[in-house]
Amino acid sequence: MFEIKDKVAIVTGGASGIGLATVEMILAKGGKPVIADYNEESGKKESERLGVPFVKVDVSCEEQVKNVVAAVVDMYGHLDIMVANAGINPIAGLLNLTMETYQRAVEINQNGVLYCDKYAIEQMVKQGTPGAVVNTSSVSGLVGQAHELAYNTTKFAVRGMTKSLALEYAPNNIRVNSIHPACVLSNMVNEDVIGHEMMQQMIALHPISAATGRIGLPEEIAHGIIFAIENTFMTGAEVVLDGGWTVQ
Ligand SMILES: NC(=O)c1ccc[n+]([C@@H]2O[C@H](COP(=O)([O-])OP(=O)(O)OC[C@H]3O[C@@H](n4cnc5c(N)ncnc54)[C@H](O)[C@@H]3O)[C@@H](O)[C@H]2O)c1
Repeated sequence: MFEIKDKVAIVTGGASGIGLATVEMILAKGGKPVIADYNEESGKKESERLGVPFVKVDVSCEEQVKNVVAAVVDMYGHLDIMVANAGINPIAGLLNLTMETYQRAVEINQNGVLYCDKYAIEQMVKQGTPGAVVNTSSVSGLVGQAHELAYNTTKFAVRGMTKSLALEYAPNNIRVNSIHPACVLSNMVNEDVIGHEMMQQMIALHPISAATGRIGLPEEIAHGIIFAIENTFMTGAEVVLDGGWTVQ
């Protein structure tokens, strides 16, 4: 088991939703999580509430990601866990997706994960210690969805990147896994944002929701992220947390 206690973790998108739930679980296990997010207001608020550091970052900027890793290493002397979780979902199909929107999704969802993995793994190799990297993909990285062109493309990329890096860094005992949630209550997905009717349609997509009457919760996904961090025999794997969506 890869003990989280005393391990230093960067969680991107840590200011809300799945990332915030992950920060809370790492903290509860005695780890040292750092919230890395571009939302300064939520980042500072959660940082004060939990007593953990906040660093502002736009993951689509390689230089900023590099600086965040350096700042965290300055703070604690080491980095053991990277949760590359920040992402956006521009819902649009082929003919109404502008190239600007598409490129922004690639910059954040795909390149952002790449930068986080790159600088975290570089530091872990330098330390010569085992490490755990978890990349947040989606069910949209496993199956296609209409009107999710940019999201599908970038989340499939995260899944591919994860497997490549898992093999490349297995000899260093740095494990790289991907997480694939279906619909989860968050700032991105809630009734205020998507409306009651759409929420009911979303609920109907998950077999397990027939019993629970709801979509997933951030802590249910964070639990999978913690499993991927702790399990020392797991690398290049897909942790699918989708209420049965993809088994239909
Ligand atoms: N909620 C879902 O239904 C769902 C399903 C599958 C996958 N996901 C993925 O889970 C991850 C977390 O999403 P969530 O559901 O918790 O949503 P969320 O909107 O609550 O959280 C996303 C966080 O990422 C931050 N962020 C966005 N762009 C950023 C950038 N360029 N740099 C730094 N931070 C940035 C936001 O400020 C926010 O705090 C995302 O990658 C998302 O694609 C979500």
